[in-house]
Amino acid sequence: MEYNCLGWDGLGHAALRQAIAASGPYLLCAAAFILLWEQLSYLRKKGSLPGPHFVVPFLGSALPMIMNPTRFWERQAALARDSGLGVSANFLVGRFIVFVRSTELSHKVFANVRPDAFHLIGHPFGKKLFGEHNLIYMFDQQHKDLRRHIAPNFTPRALSTYIDIQQRVILAHLHDWLARSAPSPKPIALRLLCRDLNLETSQTVFAGPYLSAAAREQFNRDYNLFNVGLMAIPFDLPGFAFRRARLAVSRLIRTLSGCVAQSKDRMRAGDEPSCLVDFWMQETLREVAEAEAAGARPSPENGDAEIGGQLFDFLFAAQDASTSSLLWAVALLDAHPDVLARVRAEVAALWAPESGAPITAEQVQQMRYTQAVAREVVRYRPPATMVPHIAGQPFPLTEWYTVPKGAIVFPSAYESSFQGFTEPDRFEPDRFSEPRAEDRVHKRHFLAFGAGAHQCVGQRYAINYLVLFIALFTSLVDFERHRTDGCDEIAYVPTIVPKDNCTVYLSLRGAPSL
Ligand code: HEM
Ligand SMILES: *[C@@H]1O[C@H](CO)[C@@H](O)[C@H](O)[C@H]1NC(C)=O
Repeated sequence: MEYNCLGWDGLGHAALRQAIAASGPYLLCAAAFILLWEQLSYLRKKGSLPGPHFVVPFLGSALPMIMNPTRFWERQAALARDSGLGVSANFLVGRFIVFVRSTELSHKVFANVRPDAFHLIGHPFGKKLFGEHNLIYMFDQQHKDLRRHIAPNFTPRALSTYIDIQQRVILAHLHDWLARSAPSPKPIALRLLCRDLNLETSQTVFAGPYLSAAAREQFNRDYNLFNVGLMAIPFDLPGFAFRRARLAVSRLIRTLSGCVAQSKDRMRAGDEPSCLVDFWMQETLREVAEAEAAGARPSPENGDAEIGGQLFDFLFAAQDASTSSLLWAVALLDAHPDVLARVRAEVAALWAPESGAPITAEQVQQMRYTQAVAREVVRYRPPATMVPHIAGQPFPLTEWYTVPKGAIVFPSAYESSFQGFTEPDRFEPDRFSEPRAEDRVHKRHFLAFGAGAHQCVGQRYAINYLVLFIALFTSLVDFERHRTDGCDEIAYVPTIVPKDNCTVYLSLRGAPSL
């Protein structure tokens, strides 16, 4: 998801435009008045929160935030910490923002996603790009119903079907990565390679049997256009990246709707589910039959196009966060040879690549230490460091502070990761093993998957996938980071990745049967 929230419709902007439109001797005076008004409005909203006392007109702190997001957010966190209040304020492109460092206050935001309180923001122009149907924009009963509908996609049985598919795709990509590194070892950057890998695993897991080779190629091109459009200025006009992205999304949804229709046919015929959309359609058809038997009218939410749209949202939600977690896994395993050795020993005791047999879902469950490593990777480097919400109404966050309407509130999963846990600054997977079980003991601080009604539906899927990737990568590949200055620093893209795009030397490890 996109966490870079720049509102273009801020009051300051509209007011400035008016000021420029005005002419004559009053211009300067009007401009001065507007700037003053903006300052005063900011100070009123800020109230007792720590934060800058003066803000640059309209832009606010946008420049420092774009130039060095890590330093910008660290400063907000320090203000929140040192004041003892757990929150801090700032101003970005006409928007008043509240940064939340306190775990308890973050929970308060997550727990109050309601029409009359906080609304999730996927992307500043998200609704324009993928419409209003997205799960993250839904509330209450409608949201609950859809979550219930998709639950069968993530049962242990479904997840085990996905593991087989993911494994085939991961192996094919590892082959390709090794070929790129050979014959004379040269370092390769994994970021875009991991992104391609994830797009293929999600495509195949979600709708594999229903996508022809040609459809997949068009799909990849369109997904790329969509990615470019996410970062572009939102001009919805011919020739602009944003328009191309919007059209690409329509094509992608049309393709996925076709997959939904084919899956319904196959599930109606009583075939076994072989991908995510099959599990979904099996459940949907069952509910539709029940509703019909009870004399209810068919629900429009079960239409092919509607579900195609939902599938697209899944694909998007699954994409960048997974890429981030794979890259940090490689970087952190490289930096912690002791952890790497234990992972390799655990995997080798359960599975031999020479056997030619795939890793089973049961074996993935038995890889307790590798599971702990995956969890620790996500704690230590939460891919989505913040989950922005907009206040639809004034909201009393504490006894002494009410978030004003329209403010963007950023609960920080990253900050919570470094609170509560024992020695939180250490990368230490054992914290999640028995008997420490810090995933239970300090559960409230683990906010990488969010909390409350909208908590990530894909978290089991994401952890399984990460475990499988770690198991295959460490067993089949010898790797060494190509260390450069600052390579481990955090880059916001806007999920976080190692600054050097995780550049590594790779070579085939031991077994020739990859
Ligand atoms: C390491 C990987 C992942 C991370 C860190 C992650 C993180 C998140 C976060 C922080 C949220 C917002 C939660 C909230 O507002 O409380 C979210 C929502 C969501 N995630 Fe994930 N996610 C990951 C992978 C996935 C995958 C693989 C899928 C799908 C298979 C997925 C599907 C979703 C969906 C559909 C939502 C929206 C849920 C709702 O609004 O009800 N995510 N995720
Ligand atoms: C990382 O990859 C992106 C996308 O290809 C590129 O724009 C960026 O310059 C790369 N960064 C480094 C440090 O290589």
